[in-house]
Amino acid sequence: MPQPRKIIIDTDPGQDDAVAILLALGSPELEIVGISAVAGNVPLKLTEKNARKICELAGRPEIKVYAGAIRPLVRQLVTAEEVHGQTGLNGPQLPEPAMKLQDQYAVDFIVETLMREESGTITLCPLGPLTNIALALIREPRIAPRIKEIVLMGGGYFEGGNVTPAAEFNIYVDPHAADIVFRSGTPIVMMPLDVTHKALTTTQRTQAFRKLGTKVGIATADMLEFFERYDEGKYGTDGGPLHDPCVIAYLIKPELFKGRHCNVSIETASELTMGMTVVDWWGVTKREKNAMVMRDIDHDGFFALLVERLGRL
Ligand code: RIB
Ligand code: CA
Repeated sequence: MPQPRKIIIDTDPGQDDAVAILLALGSPELEIVGISAVAGNVPLKLTEKNARKICELAGRPEIKVYAGAIRPLVRQLVTAEEVHGQTGLNGPQLPEPAMKLQDQYAVDFIVETLMREESGTITLCPLGPLTNIALALIREPRIAPRIKEIVLMGGGYFEGGNVTPAAEFNIYVDPHAADIVFRSGTPIVMMPLDVTHKALTTTQRTQAFRKLGTKVGIATADMLEFFERYDEGKYGTDGGPLHDPCVIAYLIKPELFKGRHCNVSIETASELTMGMTVVDWWGVTKREKNAMVMRDIDHDGFFALLVERLGRL
């Protein structure tokens, strides 16, 4: 077996973030060097705690969790308790974490890791607003060419937005951070709503987690049954889109996804389209192609991978 791929998960748990973290923990192809929490779905004091709760749920209290940015670079924080609940992890009753939060600031952890580890060996996996990643790039610009790849959940184009008609939540919350990341020159793989909206947690799929009969399986089903109700009401679907695990699934089985290398530019001026990811899918501009934008997913294969890997925890 080849050496596991070293990743840093940057996250705002969030039930879908939680499933992404569990998928990574259940996959020997990946080595989680650390988890950095960011303000997003809920405030930072909850996202960092939720990240620790998930590590303990998986029986992995040794995973290092760091707290990062408490708010976006410029704009005020916008949260999403209406989707994720007041704790950000409504659904299961998970105990307060016993594992400690790391003292080091997450942005310093990201910079230090990238400057220490061999260039091109660390993959960043942002699952929330890109504030920590942008701060790291500003703090130490030399990290940009040292990052192997940034595989992120964010944005939307053909699907529009989920917070405004134009913008997806992660990008909308901190569009200035997203602009910095998409201009960094680092290779980016983008999992927008165009692909995550094709990964729906149907009743049958949620039951498959519950049928695992394990602590992790039952907690995952409880999380999904809470998380999906908002999007079911909004879109009238059976189930809700399981956004963030698409990032981790790509690292394990990239063949599950199809997309196109395009230019992606971020709206940071107009309030009407603030945070819009303008994807030049048809190549009508001369703007540099800076991201592999995913649009299709083998959703049956995706959920089969999730159940199999979470079943190992
Ligand atoms: O728009 C979906 C994204 O916003 C997901 O990452 C979800 O967890 C929230 O952060
Ligand atoms: Ca998230």
